[in-house]
Amino acid sequence: MKGAYQKAYDESLKNPEEFWGRAAKAVHWDRPYEKVLDDSKKPFYRWFAGGDLNTCYNALDRHVLGGRADQAALIYDSPVTDTVARYTYRELLDRVALFAGVLADNGVGKGDTVIIYMPMIPEALIAMLACARIGAVHSVVFGGFAPNELAVRIDDARPVLIVTASCGIEGKKVIEYKPLIDRAIDLAEHKVKRTIIYQRPQASAALTDGRDVDWAAAEKKAKPTGCVPVKATDPLYILYTSGTTGMPKGVVRDNGGHAVALTWSMKHIYGMKPGEVFWAASDVGWVVGHSYIVYGPLLYGCTTIMYEGKPVGTPDPGAFWRVISDHGVSALFTAPTAFRAIKKEDPNGEYLKKYDLSKFRTLFLAGERLDPDTYHWASDMLGKPVVDHWWQTETGWAIAANCMGLESLPIKAGSPTKPVPGFHVEILDGDGKPVPNGTEGVVAIRLPLPPGTFPTLWKNDDKFRESYLDIYPGYYFTGDGGYYDTDGYIYIMGRVDDVINVAGHRLSTGAMEEIISQHPDVAECAVVGAADTFKGQLPLGFVVLKSGVERDPNDIVNDLVRMVREQIGAVACFKQAVVVKRLPKTRSGKILRGTMRKIADAETYSVPSTIDDPMVLDEIKDSLGSVGYQKA
Ligand code: COA
Ligand code: AMP
Repeated sequence: MKGAYQKAYDESLKNPEEFWGRAAKAVHWDRPYEKVLDDSKKPFYRWFAGGDLNTCYNALDRHVLGGRADQAALIYDSPVTDTVARYTYRELLDRVALFAGVLADNGVGKGDTVIIYMPMIPEALIAMLACARIGAVHSVVFGGFAPNELAVRIDDARPVLIVTASCGIEGKKVIEYKPLIDRAIDLAEHKVKRTIIYQRPQASAALTDGRDVDWAAAEKKAKPTGCVPVKATDPLYILYTSGTTGMPKGVVRDNGGHAVALTWSMKHIYGMKPGEVFWAASDVGWVVGHSYIVYGPLLYGCTTIMYEGKPVGTPDPGAFWRVISDHGVSALFTAPTAFRAIKKEDPNGEYLKKYDLSKFRTLFLAGERLDPDTYHWASDMLGKPVVDHWWQTETGWAIAANCMGLESLPIKAGSPTKPVPGFHVEILDGDGKPVPNGTEGVVAIRLPLPPGTFPTLWKNDDKFRESYLDIYPGYYFTGDGGYYDTDGYIYIMGRVDDVINVAGHRLSTGAMEEIISQHPDVAECAVVGAADTFKGQLPLGFVVLKSGVERDPNDIVNDLVRMVREQIGAVACFKQAVVVKRLPKTRSGKILRGTMRKIADAETYSVPSTIDDPMVLDEIKDSLGSVGYQKA
């Protein structure tokens, strides 16, 4: 007999309109949709076409009207500023409505774009929901990105204004944002005429006359603003994510499908009940922050936590257990790297023993491969289910998971279990043909993708098709490699493109190569994601110098490290590069990055039959040896 998971999965593929139509009843519609799935413009699909709604109304107003006005909507817990603040649904609604008024006063209207460059403070979430309230499209840029990255996003999103704060706080470091914003605005071709700055006590930003507006002063003059209904298919946000080049991809999220899918996921994947406390220990700058710090928990009537701190060092490796215990968290979602950080400092879980985790039910991990060691450690320490789930910025919610609210399936370490209802996941060979279970290949999803996934890239339907749909017609190309085992469990083994994952942060090696190539002494280069036991992967550069360059290679490597840090940001963690005589290439000139990565990781490798000169591989090994490089 089929279990609840299999029944739901089968129905979602056989009868998607009925399945998602039922899920859509949990959302308030200002105007009912005409079609659950509009497939009239294949391969572009649209969910809930003809319907109108407002995402902010569904996340706040509806709950205030429906009896949750005095329930905590948001808990801000900031060990770095020694602050804990609670906002009820009513209080959060008031703050959001007022800031929506500020946005409107500053010229933002329906369909306009707004960039949000903020640390992990409630005002980040308030700004996002305020945009949603008036039908504006937000684009949150992670605070760890350097001005150059911000400028690239400004030029693509062309915002009416930028919302920011005077500083972020990284552990003990106060990072002033104003110089970064000024530099980004200078670098960008699209000239931003207004910024709204939230002044934090830890740093005061000197406002530029005529351009910068003080958040608090603007709120004093503003009036609360109501919700503007938008089309289900209108964009709610753009979130830029690393692709294979220096130009990030502007992933678009719509309003209707997003509200339906996230609401469904809170119950069926995360097994939550409205009123419970859900904590995603991530950052609003990443997709996990969008979906599960801001929108998912609030759409579903949960309490969400915004945590401004780290898993360790703020002040100790008991930080996560303290938050879970203080706020009665039912489910925590974070990246495996956070658990590796805790394990490193507190291998025997001494800090864990100090806290009461009786309300805590499940740990969810995603963002990078969950290695079996970390899985076993977390599961042994907590004695609760540890659920690995696999997803991407593009999909906005989990593609594969153990759906705890449907049916808890036996867990297999190393696997994010099975595809989530709505995602028809297949493993393909190089010709696009499905392979049998047990065989590794490229992971692809049959179209249509379910609601909540990206309908396109921002103002770039062609790139959307080219990057994701044209590779295997009829499928969405995930960029990941993996396989199914004989029980139908999926295993995600890593990217098959130039994207790497460093401490749960998605980065492009292509973008790093573009920066390194700008160095006057560099002839050519390649960056690979080398294995790291703590951060999962770390970028490692291989650099060929121009002939005649006589500078000390260490000085050149230092230049490169500084350049990547300045142009992408500290978050790139680019700290290692090796000068080599030549790069290994195929006879047609393609750089063999995969083979270099295997050499760095001390894995066995076969010499590719297409290689131009196999001797280069020995040279690479020698160069790594000569600088004492060792797999971490
Ligand atoms: N603003 C400014 N700088 C930032 C930043 C931000 N928001 N986030 C990170 N950085 C900086 C860090 O300070 C560090 O700088 P440094 O080189 O001067 O020390 C650098 O970027 C690298 O950061 P990170 O890789 O995060 O290393 P870390 O040692 O500071 O922290 C972890 C390690 C594991 C604790 C941390 O990476 C973590 O919590 N990761 C989870 C990631 C996550 O939530 N991903 C989302 C998917 S769930
Ligand atoms: P991002 O878009 O930042 O969420 O990164 C998405 C990428 O992270 C995926 O394409 C995978 O390579 C990786 N990833 C996310 N979750 C998992 C997981 N549970 N297991 C393996 N890889 C994962």
